[in-house]
Amino acid sequence: MTLDEYILSHSDAEPAYLAKINRATHVRLINPRMCSGHLQGRFLAMFCRMIQPKCILELGTFTGYSALCMAEALPVGGVLHTVECDDELEDFILDNFAGSGHGSKIRLHIGDALAVIKELDETFDLVFIDADKREYLAYYEAVLPKLRAGGFILADNTLWDGKVLQKVAANDKQTIEIMRFNDFVAKDSRVEKVMLPLRDGLTIIRKI
Ligand SMILES: C[S@@+](CC[C@H](N)C(=O)[O-])C[C@H]1O[C@@H](n2cnc3c(N)ncnc32)[C@H](O)[C@@H]1O
Repeated sequence: MTLDEYILSHSDAEPAYLAKINRATHVRLINPRMCSGHLQGRFLAMFCRMIQPKCILELGTFTGYSALCMAEALPVGGVLHTVECDDELEDFILDNFAGSGHGSKIRLHIGDALAVIKELDETFDLVFIDADKREYLAYYEAVLPKLRAGGFILADNTLWDGKVLQKVAANDKQTIEIMRFNDFVAKDSRVEKVMLPLRDGLTIIRKI
């Protein structure tokens, strides 16, 4: 047994409808690693049960897996806005939401994350940043004013496959921007933060 298998066998099981989405993502799409998956999914669901958000924003829907994990803990009347720029995923995402029992709490926005953030007139309790790695700092500055004091941002992939510790090629914009984001947040006195080595790195940020 690997350590990863041990961790999963001592955590809650992946709900059947999410296991189905995870499998369909691996069968149908070329970049299935982008899907949060069992462990991070259970973390997102548990985190939402802990902080009990009523209004969540997710940047980067992909196949809807992480959105559904967070929506599990939303109370009646709660809402999760999720933004995806790839319109070819729309039908797949909507089918996944419809088959879940939590889809009615989720509003899917097909478009560019920065444009949709501007349009949304909401105060968020939680924002999950998981879209274009080149835009993390722009997302952060765009959502911070719309996050309530005491609210949380979760930023995914902040270890970026360990590349944050390696020599970066000048044209590797994704790694450069993830590192810029990490350095900026680490020094930002408007927030408290802790970086977790979960999966590809997940930073928890709390607005003071
Ligand atoms: C890592 S995946 C999201 C995974 C999903 N949150 C999960 O954990 O299952 C990133 C997604 O962001 C989308 N994306 C990239 N740039 C975007 C942008 N500018 N606006 C909205 N979505 C974007 C990609 O098409 C991709 O589906």
